Amino acid sequence: MIVNELVTGYLASLAHDIPPELEKLRVWAREEHVPIIRDDMLEFIRFLLLKEKPKTILEIGTAVGFSALFMHSVLPEAQITTVEKVEMRLREARKNLAGSGIELLEGDALEVLGKLDGTYDLIFLDAAKGQYGNFLPDCKRLLAPGGLMLTDNVLLEGSIAKSRFGVERRDRTIHERMREFLHELTHTDGYVTVIVPVGDGAALTYKQ
Ligand SMILES: C[S@@+](CC[C@H](N)C(=O)[O-])C[C@H]1O[C@@H](n2cnc3c(N)ncnc32)[C@H](O)[C@@H]1O
Repeated sequence: MIVNELVTGYLASLAHDIPPELEKLRVWAREEHVPIIRDDMLEFIRFLLLKEKPKTILEIGTAVGFSALFMHSVLPEAQITTVEKVEMRLREARKNLAGSGIELLEGDALEVLGKLDGTYDLIFLDAAKGQYGNFLPDCKRLLAPGGLMLTDNVLLEGSIAKSRFGVERRDRTIHERMREFLHELTHTDGYVTVIVPVGDGAALTYKQ
């Protein structure tokens, strides 16, 4: 947890309710240890959607469809496409997304994104953290000028701030890759990025 529990708890007390069917899915996902976005991130996304009103949204990392359904509940008119590669997750996602109008693309995002054209007003990157750098060229290509990319889990529970020698040996690769990713995001001409300690850290990137 990046922000202490007292503050997170207080912020949660200000959060909006989510529709009952989503609440059920949230409880189920937690029981089944399916990783889904944290409550403070939901509020952040709600704000972005209501302010920006993106017409097209691309999510990378569906899991069981919780965040895609949440975005749909906030902005039903947006056209949402979401990508997932793990069969166990896809089985649930197919059921949960059926009839919602959300497009589920099945396969490794590294391949799926390469086949997409057109642009998206909002890209929500919430997949394997170690691969974010590999997704970046396609995300830049697919992001509409003026569009926003929101990347979740970029602060690695705060360990991103430690030196490479301060993190466990097994976490060094992901630590190094995330640092490279954040450096590129914050130092690429034509893009403006702010990193905020919401959830497990979110990078919000604006394509000028
Ligand atoms: C943190 S979960 C997504 C949670 C979801 N956005 C939510 O909040 O409800 C990350 C998901 O990304 C998927 N994933 C990881 N790497 C991927 C890849 N290369 N292509 C497609 N999906 C991937 C994982 O299988 C996992 O289900």
